[in-house]
Amino acid sequence: MPISQASCRAAVVDPASRKLFPGEISMPRPGEGELLIEVAAAGVNRVDIDQKKGDYKVPAGVSPLLGLEVAGTVAALGAGATGYKPGDRVMALMSGGAYAEYAVARADLSLPIPDRMSFDEAAAVPEAYFTVWSNVFMDAKLKPGEVLLVHGGASGVGSATIQIAKSMGAVVITTARSEEKAEFCRKLGADLSINYREKDFEAEAARFLEGRGVDVVFDWIGHEYLKKHLSLLARKGRLVFIDSRTKEGPPIDLSMLMRKNLTITGSLLRPRPLEEKIAIAGEVRRRLLPKLESGEFTPIISHRVPFAAAEEAHAVVERGEHKGKVVLTFGSR
Ligand SMILES: NC(=O)c1ccc[n+]([C@@H]2O[C@H](COP(=O)([O-])OP(=O)(O)OC[C@H]3O[C@@H](n4cnc5c(N)ncnc54)[C@H](OP(=O)(O)O)[C@@H]3O)[C@@H](O)[C@H]2O)c1
Repeated sequence: MPISQASCRAAVVDPASRKLFPGEISMPRPGEGELLIEVAAAGVNRVDIDQKKGDYKVPAGVSPLLGLEVAGTVAALGAGATGYKPGDRVMALMSGGAYAEYAVARADLSLPIPDRMSFDEAAAVPEAYFTVWSNVFMDAKLKPGEVLLVHGGASGVGSATIQIAKSMGAVVITTARSEEKAEFCRKLGADLSINYREKDFEAEAARFLEGRGVDVVFDWIGHEYLKKHLSLLARKGRLVFIDSRTKEGPPIDLSMLMRKNLTITGSLLRPRPLEEKIAIAGEVRRRLLPKLESGEFTPIISHRVPFAAAEEAHAVVERGEHKGKVVLTFGSR
């Protein structure tokens, strides 16, 4: 019985080399309102790499073990955890600890895995879907018929953004580093996909839009593109940041903000208050889970990597080789 195990295997960071190795951790125990999940797959996110390298400050009180999302089977329930029973297939948003054979997640931040989806596909859902829905739809209020610009459309978050935004009736413009990745984005439904290494995305987007502006820019590039984004945005446009991978750029043109009545916002999912995360989980369950159940779209898995080779999974993301999501796999499914 897994709950009686003293330890389980995990991908752990060697503090000297800052690389991932297979190791052992104490068996996690589900607390109040939590599920113990036998992990089948864990999603790899860019922030995992930042955290491994020491470039990301882990919020107080969360597991220092990497991993923000899992898919697996409920092994046990903590006191007061409801809605699930042992053996149920679940996917869950976590604040850390997903890179292990067993993980604990809050029941209210977990979702049932549709029968038609694999564990690998389910592991690609929580972090990306919570992020896209909360920022693009709850905060930036993207509406059907509006134009969304998202960079890196072939990435984990980017590919989810294209699929979700298209299904909600938006016009989607995206960028990618190569023609191969740009084509991948078109196949996902992007209306315009620009190779940003060969073409100026601002000029290409403006030509495509024929005088119309972009309504929402969903951005993690940051300062480098700020001027172009402000220029492309339509009146009452919204710019929402979830990261700033470039730290320097031209100063913000405040007169543009005022003339166009623009809104600039942004958020970080991990440190959000619990009640906000629970509200996002409720919206994802209500608005996106039915689309996953019906097969309207399914997350695209780029690479499946056994957890013992987690360092290679990170290298794939760092080299920019992925088209869709990279997942770590556990056990012998
Ligand atoms: N705030 C939050 O709560 C939150 C939550 C989740 C994720 N995030 C952030 O969201 C971003 C995406 O996450 P992810 O896991 O999907 O990461 P990822 O796979 O590394 O994707 C980042 C993508 O950005 C694209 N990119 C990089 N530089 C670019 C440039 N100059 N122009 C256009 N595109 C560029 C790359 O596209 P190419 O490969 O085509 O070059 C890359 O695929 C990360 O920065 C992550 O930290 C934030």
